[in-house]
Amino acid sequence: MFDFSVLPQHLQKSLKVFMKKNVQTPIIICSKDQIVTNLSFFLQHLKLKCSDIYFPVKVNHTPAILNFFNDAGTNFEIASVGELSILEKLKIPADRIIFSNPVKIPDHIRCAYKYGVQNFAFDTETELQKIAQYAPQSSVYARISISNAGAQWTLNQKFGVPENNVVGLMKRSIELNLKPVGIAFHVGWNNKNTDTYLEAIRKATDIFHELKQNGISLEFMNIGGGFPAHDGDPYPLLQKIASEINPDLEFLKKQFGIRIIAEPGSFLTADTSVLICSVVDVIKRKNKSWIFLDSGINQGFQWILSGIMYKVIFPYKTSADTTLKKFIITGPTCDSHDVFLKNTALPEQVKTGDKMLVFPAGAYINSAERYNGFEYPDTFFL
Ligand SMILES: Cc1ncc(COP(=O)(O)O)c(C=O)c1O
Repeated sequence: MFDFSVLPQHLQKSLKVFMKKNVQTPIIICSKDQIVTNLSFFLQHLKLKCSDIYFPVKVNHTPAILNFFNDAGTNFEIASVGELSILEKLKIPADRIIFSNPVKIPDHIRCAYKYGVQNFAFDTETELQKIAQYAPQSSVYARISISNAGAQWTLNQKFGVPENNVVGLMKRSIELNLKPVGIAFHVGWNNKNTDTYLEAIRKATDIFHELKQNGISLEFMNIGGGFPAHDGDPYPLLQKIASEINPDLEFLKKQFGIRIIAEPGSFLTADTSVLICSVVDVIKRKNKSWIFLDSGINQGFQWILSGIMYKVIFPYKTSADTTLKKFIITGPTCDSHDVFLKNTALPEQVKTGDKMLVFPAGAYINSAERYNGFEYPDTFFL
C-alpha cells in the first residue's frame, strides 16, 4: 500500500514500521541505522575516529540523537549557552565540548568556562579579550576566512580572520595569557565543490608554516562542516572530496604533528529523518489547487524562505496510469508565505486525511525552534 522508495533504505525500514500505526501527525521519524551508516561512511573516508568528530548541536538537538553520538564516542560543538544546557542535561562532560561560535555573548563564555569548557573559537581581537576576561587561560582556535565557493549557504561574509592577521592574533592570544591551539574553517553549507575544501586546507597549511616560523605550534586543524547533504546522493560526493583532500590532510598531520578534527552536521543527520504530516484539506481557488498540511514552514522549515527546497512525497503506491496534477503545498498557519512548494505534481486523488512526507528533515529542522540555542525574548508588560 505504501511506497517511499525514493528515501534512503534504513529510513524506509523505520517508516514501514511506523506508518502501520495510527500515528498522530506531524511527527519526525529518524532512523538510527541511517545515522550509523552516515557516521561510519564519514569516518572511513576521512580516516577519522569518533573522537575527532564534534557534532554541532545546532544541527539536531533531539536528546536521543545526542545520546546516540555520545554513546558512539563523538564530541560536541556548541554555539551558545542554550546548547550547553542541553548537553549539561545529558551529562556530557565539558572536556568533550568546544565552543565554535566565533563571536560569543560574554555571559555565554563565562557560563561555558564555569561548566569547564576549555576550547573557544575567535576571529577578532575583541573576542580574544572577551575570552581572556571570562574564560582566563583557556585554549583558543582561529576561525579563518576562506572562500565558500559552491556552498548553497555561505558563512564567510559574517566570520573569519583574514589570512594575514592570523599570526598577529595568535601572538595577541599569548599576550592575553590564552593558549592558541588550532585553526578552524567552514566551507559553507552543502558544499560539493572539492576545490573550495582544497583551497581552505592549503590556506591553513600556509598559516601553520608561518606560525611555526614564529615559534607557535598548534594542536589541531578543524575542517568544520558543510559536507554535501540535503540533495543528490551524498556518498559519492563525500567520497570524491575525501579522496582529494586526504593527501593534504595527511601532510599536515605529519608535518606539524596535529590532529584533524571535524564538525559535520548535515552529512550525518539530514537524510536520516522525514516529517510525516497529514492532508488537512484539498482546495481549488482561482484555478489553482492547494494541499493544506498540518505542518508547514513555520514548524522548522523556514529555510525555504532563503531558497532551500524540500521534497514533498505522496507515500502511497500508485499505478502507472495515475493522473498527476499541479498543486501548491501549504502549511496550516494563517499567512501566505507558509508554502513548501508552489507547483508540484502529485496524484490528483490526494485527499483529506492522507499522509504526506517531507524530506530531508534531519538537519536544522527540530533545532529551528530555539535556533543555535537562542531563546525567543520574553515580553515585559508595563
Ligand atoms: C561552526 C559550525 N560547525 C559546524 C556546522 C555544521 O555544518 P553542516 O551542517 O553544514 O555540516 C555549522 C553550521 O552552521 C557551524 O556554524
